[in-house]
Amino acid sequence: MNLLVTGGAGFIGSSYVRLARRQRPDALVVNVDALTYAGNLENLRDLEGDSKHLFVRADIRDGAKMLELLRTHAIDAIVHFAAESHVDRSILSAEPFLDTNVVGTLRLLEAARAAGVRRFLQVSTDEVYGSLGPEGAFEETTPVSPRSPYSASKTAADHFVMAFHHTHGMDTVITRCSNNYGPFQFPEKLIPLMILNAFEGKPLPVYGDGLYVRDWIHVEDHCEAVDLVLERGTTGEVYNVGAENERPNMDVVRTILRLTGRDESLIRHVPDRPGHDRRYAMNARKVREQLGWRPRHNFDQGLADTVAWYRANPAWADRIRSGAYRDYYETQYASRLAAT
Ligand code: NAD
Ligand code: DAU
Repeated sequence: MNLLVTGGAGFIGSSYVRLARRQRPDALVVNVDALTYAGNLENLRDLEGDSKHLFVRADIRDGAKMLELLRTHAIDAIVHFAAESHVDRSILSAEPFLDTNVVGTLRLLEAARAAGVRRFLQVSTDEVYGSLGPEGAFEETTPVSPRSPYSASKTAADHFVMAFHHTHGMDTVITRCSNNYGPFQFPEKLIPLMILNAFEGKPLPVYGDGLYVRDWIHVEDHCEAVDLVLERGTTGEVYNVGAENERPNMDVVRTILRLTGRDESLIRHVPDRPGHDRRYAMNARKVREQLGWRPRHNFDQGLADTVAWYRANPAWADRIRSGAYRDYYETQYASRLAAT
Protein backbone atom coordinates (compact mmCIF):
# COMPACT_ATOMS: atom_id res chain seq x y z
CA MET A 1 0.00 0.00 0.00
CA ASN A 2 1.65 3.25 -1.15
CA LEU A 3 0.75 6.08 1.22
CA LEU A 4 0.58 9.82 0.89
CA VAL A 5 0.98 11.31 4.36
CA THR A 6 0.29 15.03 4.76
CA GLY A 7 1.91 17.06 7.53
CA GLY A 8 4.60 14.43 7.98
CA ALA A 9 7.21 16.96 9.11
CA GLY A 10 5.08 17.95 12.10
CA PHE A 11 4.90 16.43 15.55
CA ILE A 12 2.42 13.58 15.04
CA GLY A 13 2.89 13.19 11.28
CA SER A 14 6.64 12.54 11.64
CA SER A 15 5.96 9.89 14.27
CA TYR A 16 3.40 8.29 11.95
CA VAL A 17 5.80 8.30 8.97
CA ARG A 18 8.34 6.40 11.10
CA LEU A 19 5.68 3.88 12.08
CA ALA A 20 4.43 3.47 8.50
CA ARG A 21 7.97 2.78 7.25
CA ARG A 22 8.49 0.16 9.97
CA GLN A 23 5.13 -1.51 9.33
CA ARG A 24 5.40 -1.67 5.52
CA PRO A 25 9.05 -2.03 4.47
CA ASP A 26 8.16 -2.40 0.78
CA ALA A 27 5.63 0.41 0.48
CA LEU A 28 6.40 3.98 -0.53
CA VAL A 29 5.55 6.84 1.83
CA VAL A 30 5.19 10.18 0.06
CA ASN A 31 5.38 12.82 2.77
CA VAL A 32 3.80 16.13 1.74
CA ASP A 33 4.41 19.10 4.00
CA ALA A 34 4.50 22.84 3.37
CA LEU A 35 7.05 23.34 6.19
CA THR A 36 5.13 26.07 7.97
CA TYR A 37 6.51 27.28 11.31
CA ALA A 38 5.48 23.87 12.74
CA GLY A 39 7.07 21.69 10.07
CA ASN A 40 10.66 20.65 10.67
CA LEU A 41 12.80 18.30 8.62
CA GLU A 42 14.92 17.64 11.71
CA ASN A 43 11.95 15.60 12.96
CA LEU A 44 12.67 13.17 10.09
CA ARG A 45 16.46 12.99 10.35
CA ASP A 46 16.48 9.26 11.13
CA LEU A 47 14.74 8.62 7.78
CA GLU A 48 17.52 10.21 5.73
CA GLY A 49 18.72 7.72 3.13
CA ASP A 50 15.47 5.73 3.24
CA SER A 51 14.61 5.29 -0.46
CA LYS A 52 11.00 4.46 0.36
CA HIS A 53 10.42 7.79 2.11
CA LEU A 54 9.94 10.63 -0.34
CA PHE A 55 9.64 14.11 1.16
CA VAL A 56 7.88 16.70 -1.01
CA ARG A 57 7.57 20.31 0.08
CA ALA A 58 4.11 21.29 -1.11
CA ASP A 59 0.92 22.88 0.12
CA ILE A 60 -2.17 20.69 0.37
CA ARG A 61 -4.20 23.59 -1.05
CA ASP A 62 -2.36 23.08 -4.35
CA GLY A 63 -4.88 20.63 -5.80
CA ALA A 64 -3.03 20.15 -9.11
CA LYS A 65 0.18 19.23 -7.29
CA MET A 66 -1.69 16.81 -5.01
CA LEU A 67 -3.29 15.11 -8.03
CA GLU A 68 0.06 14.84 -9.78
CA LEU A 69 1.65 13.22 -6.71
CA LEU A 70 -1.23 10.80 -6.25
CA ARG A 71 -1.04 9.67 -9.89
CA THR A 72 2.75 9.64 -10.25
CA HIS A 73 3.25 7.47 -7.18
CA ALA A 74 0.17 5.25 -7.58
CA ILE A 75 -1.02 6.19 -4.10
CA ASP A 76 -3.45 3.75 -2.49
CA ALA A 77 -4.32 5.73 0.65
CA ILE A 78 -3.99 9.21 2.13
CA VAL A 79 -3.34 9.78 5.83
CA HIS A 80 -4.13 13.44 6.39
CA PHE A 81 -2.38 15.13 9.33
CA ALA A 82 -1.51 18.53 7.80
CA ALA A 83 -3.22 21.32 9.68
CA GLU A 84 -2.87 24.50 11.60
CA SER A 85 -3.00 22.83 14.99
CA HIS A 86 -2.73 25.37 17.83
CA VAL A 87 -5.86 26.76 19.52
CA ASP A 88 -4.17 29.93 20.78
CA ARG A 89 -2.99 30.84 17.28
CA SER A 90 -6.53 30.32 15.98
CA ILE A 91 -7.69 32.89 18.52
CA LEU A 92 -5.06 35.38 17.34
CA SER A 93 -5.90 34.77 13.64
CA ALA A 94 -8.49 32.31 12.33
CA GLU A 95 -7.97 32.70 8.58
CA PRO A 96 -5.03 30.27 8.19
CA PHE A 97 -7.18 27.65 9.92
CA LEU A 98 -9.95 28.09 7.37
CA ASP A 99 -7.40 28.00 4.53
CA THR A 100 -5.45 24.90 5.48
CA ASN A 101 -7.84 22.88 7.60
CA VAL A 102 -10.98 23.39 5.52
CA VAL A 103 -9.96 24.48 2.00
CA GLY A 104 -6.82 22.31 2.10
CA THR A 105 -8.77 19.24 3.16
CA LEU A 106 -11.36 19.87 0.45
CA ARG A 107 -8.67 20.19 -2.25
CA LEU A 108 -7.10 16.96 -1.04
CA LEU A 109 -10.46 15.17 -1.12
CA GLU A 110 -11.06 16.37 -4.67
CA ALA A 111 -7.61 15.20 -5.77
CA ALA A 112 -8.13 11.84 -4.05
CA ARG A 113 -11.43 11.38 -5.82
CA ALA A 114 -10.00 12.31 -9.21
CA ALA A 115 -7.07 9.92 -8.74
CA GLY A 116 -9.27 7.06 -7.46
CA VAL A 117 -7.40 6.77 -4.14
CA ARG A 118 -8.74 3.72 -2.29
CA ARG A 119 -8.95 5.16 1.24
CA PHE A 120 -8.81 8.61 2.87
CA LEU A 121 -8.04 8.82 6.59
CA GLN A 122 -8.80 12.15 8.24
CA VAL A 123 -6.85 12.79 11.45
CA SER A 124 -9.24 14.75 13.63
CA THR A 125 -9.54 15.74 17.25
CA ASP A 126 -11.70 15.37 20.37
CA GLU A 127 -12.09 19.16 20.29
CA VAL A 128 -14.84 18.84 17.65
CA TYR A 129 -17.12 17.59 20.45
CA GLY A 130 -16.78 20.78 22.51
CA SER A 131 -16.40 20.87 26.27
CA LEU A 132 -17.45 18.42 29.01
CA GLY A 133 -18.71 19.03 32.54
CA PRO A 134 -17.21 17.08 35.45
CA GLU A 135 -18.71 13.73 34.38
CA GLY A 136 -18.82 11.55 31.27
CA ALA A 137 -16.74 11.19 28.14
CA PHE A 138 -17.08 11.92 24.42
CA GLU A 139 -18.55 9.04 22.38
CA GLU A 140 -18.43 8.80 18.59
CA THR A 141 -22.15 9.61 18.70
CA THR A 142 -21.70 12.80 20.75
CA PRO A 143 -22.95 15.71 18.60
CA VAL A 144 -20.15 17.97 17.42
CA SER A 145 -20.06 21.38 19.13
CA PRO A 146 -16.79 23.15 18.31
CA ARG A 147 -16.00 26.24 20.35
CA SER A 148 -12.64 27.57 19.10
CA PRO A 149 -11.76 28.68 15.56
CA TYR A 150 -9.35 25.70 15.45
CA SER A 151 -12.01 23.16 16.40
CA ALA A 152 -14.57 24.83 14.10
CA SER A 153 -12.14 24.34 11.18
CA LYS A 154 -11.45 20.70 12.10
CA THR A 155 -15.19 20.05 12.39
CA ALA A 156 -15.84 21.61 9.00
CA ALA A 157 -13.12 19.43 7.50
CA ASP A 158 -14.65 16.32 9.09
CA HIS A 159 -18.01 17.27 7.57
CA PHE A 160 -16.44 17.53 4.10
CA VAL A 161 -14.85 14.11 4.56
CA MET A 162 -18.22 12.60 5.51
CA ALA A 163 -19.89 14.45 2.63
CA PHE A 164 -17.45 12.90 0.15
CA HIS A 165 -18.19 9.49 1.64
CA HIS A 166 -21.96 9.86 1.40
CA THR A 167 -22.14 11.83 -1.84
CA HIS A 168 -19.32 10.36 -3.88
CA GLY A 169 -19.01 6.94 -2.26
CA MET A 170 -15.43 7.66 -1.22
CA ASP A 171 -13.89 5.22 1.28
CA THR A 172 -13.16 7.48 4.26
CA VAL A 173 -12.40 6.95 7.94
CA ILE A 174 -11.96 9.58 10.65
CA THR A 175 -9.94 9.30 13.87
CA ARG A 176 -10.58 11.75 16.69
CA CYS A 177 -7.83 11.77 19.27
CA SER A 178 -7.22 13.48 22.60
CA ASN A 179 -4.15 15.55 23.59
CA ASN A 180 -0.84 14.10 22.38
CA TYR A 181 2.54 14.44 24.08
CA GLY A 182 6.01 13.07 23.34
CA PRO A 183 9.25 13.96 21.52
CA PHE A 184 9.33 16.59 18.74
CA GLN A 185 6.22 18.48 19.92
CA PHE A 186 6.40 22.16 19.01
CA PRO A 187 6.88 24.23 22.20
CA GLU A 188 3.72 26.28 21.79
CA LYS A 189 1.75 23.38 23.33
CA LEU A 190 1.38 22.98 27.11
CA ILE A 191 3.82 20.15 27.88
CA PRO A 192 6.90 21.17 25.85
CA LEU A 193 6.38 24.85 26.68
CA MET A 194 6.33 24.11 30.41
CA ILE A 195 9.30 21.72 30.19
CA LEU A 196 11.50 24.22 28.33
CA ASN A 197 10.51 27.12 30.59
CA ALA A 198 11.21 25.00 33.67
CA PHE A 199 14.67 24.06 32.35
CA GLU A 200 15.46 27.78 32.08
CA GLY A 201 13.81 28.80 35.35
CA LYS A 202 11.33 30.97 33.43
CA PRO A 203 7.70 31.54 34.59
CA LEU A 204 5.20 28.80 33.73
CA PRO A 205 2.05 30.55 32.38
CA VAL A 206 -0.98 28.57 33.53
CA TYR A 207 -4.24 29.81 32.02
CA GLY A 208 -6.94 30.72 34.54
CA ASP A 209 -7.31 28.46 37.57
CA GLY A 210 -5.35 25.62 35.91
CA LEU A 211 -8.15 23.16 36.66
CA TYR A 212 -8.94 22.56 32.99
CA VAL A 213 -8.70 18.85 32.24
CA ARG A 214 -7.06 17.21 29.24
CA ASP A 215 -6.90 13.48 28.45
CA TRP A 216 -3.27 12.72 27.51
CA ILE A 217 -1.99 10.11 25.08
CA HIS A 218 1.55 9.35 23.92
CA VAL A 219 2.05 10.26 20.25
CA GLU A 220 3.18 6.71 19.38
CA ASP A 221 -0.03 5.24 20.79
CA HIS A 222 -2.05 7.69 18.71
CA CYS A 223 -0.12 6.73 15.56
CA GLU A 224 -0.67 3.03 16.17
CA ALA A 225 -4.41 3.66 16.43
CA VAL A 226 -4.36 5.67 13.18
CA ASP A 227 -2.58 2.83 11.40
CA LEU A 228 -5.04 0.22 12.67
CA VAL A 229 -7.99 2.32 11.55
CA LEU A 230 -6.34 2.78 8.17
CA GLU A 231 -5.94 -1.00 7.79
CA ARG A 232 -9.10 -2.27 9.39
CA GLY A 233 -11.52 0.56 10.11
CA THR A 234 -15.01 0.36 8.64
CA THR A 235 -15.64 2.76 5.80
CA GLY A 236 -17.57 5.91 6.72
CA GLU A 237 -16.94 5.47 10.45
CA VAL A 238 -15.44 7.67 13.16
CA TYR A 239 -13.06 6.22 15.79
CA ASN A 240 -12.30 8.02 19.06
CA VAL A 241 -8.76 7.55 20.34
CA GLY A 242 -7.72 8.22 23.94
CA ALA A 243 -5.70 6.52 26.66
CA GLU A 244 -7.70 7.41 29.81
CA ASN A 245 -5.17 9.82 31.27
CA GLU A 246 -7.35 12.70 32.41
CA ARG A 247 -5.31 15.27 34.31
CA PRO A 248 -5.97 18.85 35.44
CA ASN A 249 -3.33 21.15 33.92
CA MET A 250 -2.00 22.01 37.39
CA ASP A 251 -1.16 18.33 38.00
CA VAL A 252 0.76 18.14 34.72
CA VAL A 253 2.63 21.37 35.48
CA ARG A 254 3.51 20.26 39.03
CA THR A 255 4.80 16.92 37.72
CA ILE A 256 6.97 18.76 35.18
CA LEU A 257 8.37 20.96 37.97
CA ARG A 258 9.21 17.85 40.00
CA LEU A 259 10.83 16.12 37.02
CA THR A 260 12.92 19.20 36.25
CA GLY A 261 13.91 19.84 39.86
CA ARG A 262 12.12 23.20 40.05
CA ASP A 263 9.73 24.50 42.70
CA GLU A 264 6.21 25.85 42.38
CA SER A 265 7.25 29.48 42.67
CA LEU A 266 7.66 29.41 38.87
CA ILE A 267 3.90 28.94 38.35
CA ARG A 268 2.03 32.05 37.17
CA HIS A 269 -1.75 32.01 36.84
CA VAL A 270 -2.22 34.24 33.82
CA PRO A 271 -5.45 35.56 32.19
CA ASP A 272 -7.40 32.72 30.68
CA ARG A 273 -7.66 31.53 27.08
CA PRO A 274 -10.93 32.96 25.67
CA GLY A 275 -13.58 30.25 25.24
CA HIS A 276 -11.35 27.76 27.07
CA ASP A 277 -12.90 24.26 26.96
CA ARG A 278 -13.15 23.02 30.55
CA ARG A 279 -12.67 19.31 30.15
CA TYR A 280 -12.01 16.66 27.49
CA ALA A 281 -12.29 12.91 28.05
CA MET A 282 -12.46 10.24 25.39
CA ASN A 283 -14.38 7.01 25.35
CA ALA A 284 -12.22 4.88 23.03
CA ARG A 285 -14.07 1.61 23.53
CA LYS A 286 -14.82 1.25 19.82
CA VAL A 287 -11.20 1.25 18.63
CA ARG A 288 -10.22 -0.97 21.56
CA GLU A 289 -12.99 -3.54 21.13
CA GLN A 290 -13.45 -3.58 17.37
CA LEU A 291 -9.83 -3.18 16.28
CA GLY A 292 -7.94 -4.47 19.32
CA TRP A 293 -5.98 -1.24 19.90
CA ARG A 294 -4.26 -0.78 23.26
CA PRO A 295 -2.07 2.15 24.35
CA ARG A 296 1.41 0.96 25.35
CA HIS A 297 2.60 4.04 27.24
CA ASN A 298 1.93 4.81 30.87
CA PHE A 299 1.46 8.58 31.31
CA ASP A 300 3.83 9.10 34.26
CA GLN A 301 6.65 7.19 32.56
CA GLY A 302 5.85 8.77 29.18
CA LEU A 303 6.03 12.27 30.67
CA ALA A 304 9.34 11.49 32.41
CA ASP A 305 10.72 10.15 29.11
CA THR A 306 9.49 13.27 27.32
CA VAL A 307 11.26 15.54 29.81
CA ALA A 308 14.40 13.42 29.29
CA TRP A 309 14.05 13.78 25.50
CA TYR A 310 13.87 17.59 25.69
CA ARG A 311 16.84 17.57 28.07
CA ALA A 312 18.83 15.46 25.61
CA ASN A 313 17.89 17.58 22.57
CA PRO A 314 18.52 21.23 23.46
CA ALA A 315 19.68 22.13 19.95
CA TRP A 316 16.36 21.02 18.45
CA ALA A 317 14.46 23.33 20.80
CA ASP A 318 16.94 26.21 20.52
CA ARG A 319 16.64 26.35 16.74
CA ILE A 320 12.85 26.37 16.90
CA ARG A 321 12.72 29.07 19.53
CA SER A 322 14.74 31.57 17.57
CA GLY A 323 13.13 34.11 15.24
CA ALA A 324 9.40 33.85 14.63
CA TYR A 325 8.77 31.78 17.75
CA ARG A 326 10.03 34.65 19.92
CA ASP A 327 7.55 37.01 18.29
CA TYR A 328 4.75 34.53 18.91
CA TYR A 329 5.79 34.05 22.55
CA GLU A 330 5.87 37.80 23.07
CA THR A 331 2.41 38.27 21.53
CA GLN A 332 0.86 35.38 23.43
CA TYR A 333 2.50 35.77 26.85
CA ALA A 334 4.11 39.17 27.48
CA SER A 335 0.97 41.04 28.51
CA ARG A 336 -0.47 37.97 30.23
CA LEU A 337 2.65 37.59 32.37
CA ALA A 338 2.80 41.31 33.01
CA ALA A 339 -0.76 41.09 34.36
CA THR A 340 0.30 38.69 37.15
P1 NAD B 1 1.83 20.24 13.97
O1 NAD B 1 1.42 21.67 14.00
O2 NAD B 1 2.98 19.80 14.79
O3 NAD B 1 2.14 19.79 12.46
C1 NAD B 1 1.33 20.20 11.37
C2 NAD B 1 2.13 19.95 10.10
O4 NAD B 1 1.30 20.31 8.98
C3 NAD B 1 3.41 20.80 10.00
O5 NAD B 1 4.49 19.99 9.61
C4 NAD B 1 3.07 21.82 8.93
O6 NAD B 1 4.20 22.26 8.19
C5 NAD B 1 2.08 21.07 8.07
N1 NAD B 1 1.18 21.96 7.33
C6 NAD B 1 0.46 23.00 7.82
N2 NAD B 1 -0.24 23.59 6.83
C7 NAD B 1 0.04 22.90 5.69
C8 NAD B 1 -0.38 23.03 4.35
N3 NAD B 1 -1.24 23.99 3.95
N4 NAD B 1 0.08 22.14 3.43
C9 NAD B 1 0.96 21.17 3.80
N5 NAD B 1 1.40 21.02 5.07
C10 NAD B 1 0.95 21.87 6.00
O7 NAD B 1 0.50 19.44 14.34
P2 NAD B 1 0.33 18.06 15.14
O8 NAD B 1 0.17 18.37 16.57
O9 NAD B 1 1.33 17.09 14.67
O10 NAD B 1 -1.13 17.64 14.59
C11 NAD B 1 -1.25 16.88 13.41
C12 NAD B 1 -2.72 16.59 13.16
O11 NAD B 1 -3.27 15.88 14.27
C13 NAD B 1 -3.58 17.83 12.98
O12 NAD B 1 -4.52 17.56 11.97
C14 NAD B 1 -4.27 18.00 14.32
O13 NAD B 1 -5.51 18.64 14.17
C15 NAD B 1 -4.43 16.56 14.75
N6 NAD B 1 -4.48 16.31 16.19
C16 NAD B 1 -3.52 16.82 17.00
C17 NAD B 1 -3.54 16.51 18.36
C18 NAD B 1 -2.49 17.03 19.30
O14 NAD B 1 -2.60 16.85 20.51
N7 NAD B 1 -1.42 17.66 18.83
C19 NAD B 1 -4.57 15.71 18.88
C20 NAD B 1 -5.57 15.22 18.00
C21 NAD B 1 -5.50 15.53 16.66
O1 DAU C 1 -7.45 17.64 22.35
C1 DAU C 1 -6.73 17.53 21.15
C2 DAU C 1 -6.10 18.87 20.85
O2 DAU C 1 -5.08 19.06 21.82
C3 DAU C 1 -5.52 18.95 19.44
O3 DAU C 1 -6.56 18.84 18.52
C4 DAU C 1 -4.77 20.28 19.25
O4 DAU C 1 -4.14 20.26 17.98
C5 DAU C 1 -3.72 20.41 20.32
O5 DAU C 1 -3.10 21.67 20.22
C6 DAU C 1 -4.35 20.25 21.72
O6 DAU C 1 -5.19 21.39 22.04
P1 DAU C 1 -5.22 22.03 23.52
O7 DAU C 1 -5.68 23.42 23.41
O8 DAU C 1 -5.93 21.13 24.47
O9 DAU C 1 -3.63 21.93 23.86
P2 DAU C 1 -2.62 22.99 24.50
O10 DAU C 1 -1.33 22.26 24.69
O11 DAU C 1 -2.58 24.27 23.76
O12 DAU C 1 -3.26 23.27 25.93
C7 DAU C 1 -3.49 22.22 26.85
C8 DAU C 1 -4.12 22.83 28.09
O13 DAU C 1 -3.15 23.67 28.74
C9 DAU C 1 -5.31 23.72 27.81
O14 DAU C 1 -6.24 23.59 28.86
C10 DAU C 1 -4.72 25.13 27.81
C11 DAU C 1 -3.62 25.02 28.84
N1 DAU C 1 -2.44 25.89 28.63
C12 DAU C 1 -1.82 25.85 27.42
C13 DAU C 1 -0.74 26.65 27.16
C14 DAU C 1 -0.06 26.61 25.81
C15 DAU C 1 -1.98 26.72 29.65
O15 DAU C 1 -2.53 26.74 30.77
N2 DAU C 1 -0.89 27.51 29.39
C16 DAU C 1 -0.26 27.53 28.18
O16 DAU C 1 0.71 28.31 28.02
